This record gives sequence, structure tokens and C-alpha cells, in this order.
Amino acid sequence: MATPLRFDETQGQDHTGQLDGQPVTYRAFMDLNYVTMPVDPIQRLNVFVPTPYFSGGTVNGYQRVTAPIFMPNTVGGYLPGPRDFPGNPAVYSRGTTILRALQRGYVVVAAGLRGRTQTDGQGQNLGKAPAFIVDMKAAVRYVKFNAGRLPGNPERIITNGTSAGGATSALMGASGNADFFESRLQDLGAAPATDDIFAVSAYCPIHNLEHADAAYEWEFNGIDQWHRQQIRVEDNRQICTPVHGHLSDQERALSPQLKAAFTPYLNSLELKDRAGNPLSLDHTGEGSFKALILRYLKDSAQTALTAGQDVTKYAGVIVNGSTVTRIDWPQYLRAITRMKSVPAFDALDLSNPENDLFGSRLTAARHFTSFAQAHSRVPANLADADLVAAVNPLTYLLRKQSHVAPHWRIRHGAADRDTSFAIPVILATKLANRGYDVDFALPWATPHSGDYDLPELFDWIDGLCQ
Ligand code: DHB
Repeated sequence: MATPLRFDETQGQDHTGQLDGQPVTYRAFMDLNYVTMPVDPIQRLNVFVPTPYFSGGTVNGYQRVTAPIFMPNTVGGYLPGPRDFPGNPAVYSRGTTILRALQRGYVVVAAGLRGRTQTDGQGQNLGKAPAFIVDMKAAVRYVKFNAGRLPGNPERIITNGTSAGGATSALMGASGNADFFESRLQDLGAAPATDDIFAVSAYCPIHNLEHADAAYEWEFNGIDQWHRQQIRVEDNRQICTPVHGHLSDQERALSPQLKAAFTPYLNSLELKDRAGNPLSLDHTGEGSFKALILRYLKDSAQTALTAGQDVTKYAGVIVNGSTVTRIDWPQYLRAITRMKSVPAFDALDLSNPENDLFGSRLTAARHFTSFAQAHSRVPANLADADLVAAVNPLTYLLRKQSHVAPHWRIRHGAADRDTSFAIPVILATKLANRGYDVDFALPWATPHSGDYDLPELFDWIDGLCQ
């Protein structure tokens, strides 16, 4: 009998994809179990290998044993993230990212991960937190267990994702081999291997959920209208309908309370700028941490202006000739608009995706902050603080309890309002303060999205791996 979870390189099928009129040849190994005791059929993965590696060839300077292993996920909204493949017509698919990675000579491993809406045959939930990250770790363990069989260098694993998938990628980087997940991995029959990784690519990671409400009001307090797109899928197409609303009296009353809670949290992190100066906020929410965010925004606008873009399309961008002199914070935020009501993540009626994420086997949704629990408008329970902390990448950067990835590339669009700018800036800053290699930017005029700069992302990977 074949050894369980052993990668069998004889089972692949050759394909040719097209990119910009160029053929990309690869061998696909589909639907492989990455745990011996799966609880859902989504827990399988696909492996794609540039075909030249099977005949001693090289691609982009890489060979079979030296190629980076790129692991994109399709998680969005903390929903189930199915395993992806080039040519996948599903709306969630990033098949082109996979093809472009293969063209660069990377081995691609695309694992399916459970999400918050999944149930078993008895109607019990099986995809609530921390299922998404347990599955991703099991997939990485599968890759490392198969070192030497599965093409690529298992010491050069790079995870990639956007939004909730970006959070998944960031959490992989932060929580390598952390104890919290061990028994859950054992229960699934994960391969006996480690799950720490080499590098993280994260686009607009929706993470640090227990502090995201306070960060959101620190940013948007005083802006009482919200604007968002309602997205539904019909005939495998995304249909977006704009919806607008006003904060209620209660929401307007809660906003300053949440805002006030952000300053003590931010100061407790003891962040420093590159020169070692403290980054802090005062009781009004002003201070050097805010100045840092404004610097990132100004640098982003300057890069866009220098490239010939009209950056004054957004109010609050002050330009003198060829120089962006200043970003006016309130004006700029009014220009990009508030997207979410109050609290932004831990909804008082448990109606947000994050409430659903923190449900349990038998509970559809729970609160995950004591603030929302105290103000709840429905009968509700609070998720275990240990669980909420375990799925927050910051947890692992504040107290050493894991093997943290040495290299990070984090992007969050300068027009993204799905979470406060503070959230990715805290992550990038803490990582840099801890001595990790961080490439961070807020790309100009970029909304909540990912994989929009693949040539630069892959150049960054090549810079680390070639
Ligand atoms: C995603 C977006 C959100 O605004 C959010 O709160 C959670 C997840 C997403 O796109 O994955």
C-alpha cells in the first residue's frame, strides 16, 4: 500500500497555458489529500510544476530542487477557499496568478481550506476559526513531509492571499509551529513535519480582529455616512450593488468610545520608527503613529504623481508642482469614504462575517470583543480569548511562541477602507521592530484587492531566492 500523504510524481498530467501569447507548460497533480483524516472534501490540494523540472531543465534560473514553492489561497470573507487551478472559471479563482508563478519557475501548491459556512452531515459547523489556518498549516506540513519528492525547495515556501486570505497568509508567517494548533493538526492526521514558512505575501490582510473596531473608529470617527458594495454571485459572475447608509444615534454614540480605546492599545505595542523613536498617540488620537501613516500615504501619492497620475482626484492630497507636500487626513478620509458602520467588525447583532467566523461547532456566531459583548443587541456569547488571540498574527510578535517567517511583503491599498490603515501599519512596524525583513506600502488609488502587482511581487521573491 502507498504510504499515506506521500507525493507520487508519476501521477501528473501535462498542460499548456497561455500568457501574453506565450505557452506555459506545467505538470498538474490534482486533488491530493493533505491530511489522512479529512473532515471535509475541501481539504485537498493541487500541485503544479514547470514541466522542464522533470527533464533536468531550468526556468528563470531555478531547478527542480531550488524552485520556490508558492502557496496561494482563495480564502475571501473567511468563506471556504477551494483549491485553485489555472483556467478555473470560478469567481474566487486566481488561476492567472498560478500561471504567472509557473512562468517564473515557481512550484505552486494550491490547497483548499475550510471556511466559516461549512457544516457536516449532522448540520454541525466544521469550518469556524481556527479551521482555515489549521488546514493551511496541514498543507504546508504535507509539502515539507514530501521534501525531495515534491519538486521545489521546501525551505523556500511563500504563502500568498488577499483580504481574509491575506490574513491567512500573514498568520502562517507569524504562527509557525505554534503549540495552539498541534492537537487540531493531529486530529486531522496532518503529516509529521513543521509548518513554518520562508516568506509571506499578504494583500490587505483583514486581521487583528479584536482591535480592528477601535482602529476603524480612530480613523473614521466623525464621518457618519457609509458606502459599500453589496456583492452577490449570479451565473458565476459577481454582481455589485452600491448601498449607502447613515450611522444611527447609537452607532454615533459608540464611535468615540471605540476611538478612545485605540490609543491605549496602540501605545501598549511600544512601536518604534526606523530611527528608533517611539510611535505613539495621545488621548485625542494624535501623535507620531498617525504621522507615520500620513508619511506612507504621502510617499504613495508622490510615487503616483511622479509616474504621471492625477493624485488630486482624491480631496486632501496637497500638491505643489511635482511634489506632494501633505495629506489632509480628514479630507482624504472623506474622499475615500467610510465603508462600515459601528462596530465595523464585531457587529452588535452578530451579523458580520467575523461573528460567523468565531462561531463554534454548535453556535452560528459569537462576539469576539468584550465591547460588543457588553453592548450586544441579541443573546450572544463571547468567543474564547485564547482562540481570538491564536488567529491574530500580532499575538506571535508580542510574545515569542512560534517560528516567524523571516521575509514579509505586505500591501494595503491607499483607497482601501475595509479596515483601518492602522491595522497593516501595526503589523509591518512590529515585524520590522522585531528585526524581520518587511517590504510594506500603501499603493496609490488601490481599493481592497490583491495580486495587482505580480511582476513586482515575483521580483521580490526572486530577490530572496535566486
Ligand atoms: C473580507 C473583507 C472584509 O471587509 C472583511 O471584514 C472580511 C473579509 C474579504 O474580502 O476577505
